[in-house]
Amino acid sequence: MSAGEVEIRVAGDAEAAARVVAERLAEQARAGGHVALTGGSTPRRAYELAAQLEPNWGRVELWWGDERCVPPDDERSNYRMAKAALLDRLAVEPAAVHRMRGELGKDGGATAYERELAPLAAFDLVLLGLGPDGHVASLYPRQPTLDETERRVVGAEAHLDPYVDRITLTLPALRAAREVLFLVAGADKADAVARALAGEPSRETPGSLVRAELGPTRAVLDRAAASRLSYGLSERET
Ligand code: 6PG
Repeated sequence: MSAGEVEIRVAGDAEAAARVVAERLAEQARAGGHVALTGGSTPRRAYELAAQLEPNWGRVELWWGDERCVPPDDERSNYRMAKAALLDRLAVEPAAVHRMRGELGKDGGATAYERELAPLAAFDLVLLGLGPDGHVASLYPRQPTLDETERRVVGAEAHLDPYVDRITLTLPALRAAREVLFLVAGADKADAVARALAGEPSRETPGSLVRAELGPTRAVLDRAAASRLSYGLSERET
């Protein structure tokens, strides 16, 4: 596989895709290490299944790729979603839960998270969703946040619903991963999937700019999200 290529696995439907990702998360829970979770709605089922598959997350430290600037009990909070779907279902909680503090606002929250992240050189696993416009974490198309080369966490303005400010890892922080794993489901993502996973790197499609520097970049898709990809050797259907 050449540099920049993504290993793609196509599952029959969203439930099957969630199961593949849950298995990977459970495996990482057993191995231990630093895992960055994603927000949005697609990963919810993967988190639920991962808690069933492995209820002991005591060897893992959890991080987030992005957060909405709301309190942790707000229904738009990415932390709250992961807490309900994963954390509250575990028998042994993670060794540390590093949530982004959305309640501090985008700049204060970014500064605080950057400080918290400072001792960590690299994530073992970064889980990412993909927006229909090609965004990842809260890195939106053509925004100045894509040009960040020094900071690992920045504030961002909302470009999509929910319209609240965000805190987000930057491209250098996402790329410094031993594995990046995209989970994408739904026909409305098919175009973004083709551009992000099989197109040329472009600021129009932030997902195309995220490739792990220390290991593989993988994607688990349902058939609908994969419908505009032409099948190649690196793709496998389950
Ligand atoms: C967020 C995200 C975001 C998300 C995509 C896909 O806070 O919204 O982390 O990058 O992963 O927008 O979201 P869905 O899975 O809800 O389509």
